[in-house]
Amino acid sequence: MPYLRTHNLEKKFDGVHAVDHLSVTFEAGKITSIVGPNGSGKSTLINTLTGMIPVDGGAVIIADTTHLTKVVPHQVPLYGMTRTFQDVKLFEQMPVLDNVLVVLTERNIVSALFEKHGTYHLERAEEVLKRVGLWEKRNELAKNLSYGQRKLLEIARVLGMLHGAPGEIELIFFDEPFAGLFPEMVKTVISVMKELRDKGKAVVLVEHNMDIIRELSDHLYVLDAGKLLADGKPLEVLARKDVIEAYLGE
Ligand SMILES: Nc1ncnc2c1ncn2[C@@H]1O[C@H](COP(=O)(O)OP(=O)(O)OP(=O)(O)O)[C@@H](O)[C@H]1O
Ligand SMILES: [Mg+2]
Repeated sequence: MPYLRTHNLEKKFDGVHAVDHLSVTFEAGKITSIVGPNGSGKSTLINTLTGMIPVDGGAVIIADTTHLTKVVPHQVPLYGMTRTFQDVKLFEQMPVLDNVLVVLTERNIVSALFEKHGTYHLERAEEVLKRVGLWEKRNELAKNLSYGQRKLLEIARVLGMLHGAPGEIELIFFDEPFAGLFPEMVKTVISVMKELRDKGKAVVLVEHNMDIIRELSDHLYVLDAGKLLADGKPLEVLARKDVIEAYLGE
């Protein structure tokens, strides 16, 4: 079942057509990957769908019921969506543990007011930090983590959001989550994504590593200069001559 569809989505920056009449579908219980050369509009697509930059045209359809011609940032969690950032966004001056506790409590007004960090939240924080291998680092400030650990902490925060109220998170955008990770970390993130898919979430992955794309993707979109160049099963799409040419022989 499609969780989110776009219809002729458009975003222009001055002369650049960053997203050019894109119609894509992200299904529940599937990993949908987006690849394309640098500057082909992958991050811009996520930025428009999460309300960080305004859409210039087209529509966003959520769960086949909600039709939007603009996405407002504070509504994004209410629509069941969250994301990670290509350039990692954390609370730098806060410890690792607090970075997770914030997402566990900030969406639940009652517990934020009365319990703040109750046992439930601490247990969930421990669970997600252990999942990404960062529990030992819980008292470090985020800014003191290595690059790879910072990316893992962002993923722990996404996992924390799955436990937050009021709404269920149904769709997660991962913008280049594997860039700069050591092999052990890559394995962790791959298994997190498979687990999210198995839980029925719509997982959207932007990634340049084609081995990871082949392993994880149920469906693949290839963008080129903001336009859809190809889509379909990853092995078939990546064998296409025009796709290989767009990458200059990946
Ligand atoms: N905020 C912005 N203001 C102006 N131009 C932008 C902005 N964001 C993106 N662009 C331009 O839009 C185009 C698409 O950029 P985008 O970051 O979406 O590409 P990408 O596919 O994510 O690339 P990469 O693989 O390098 O991350 C590029 O030409 C980029 O310079
Ligand atoms: Mg990008």
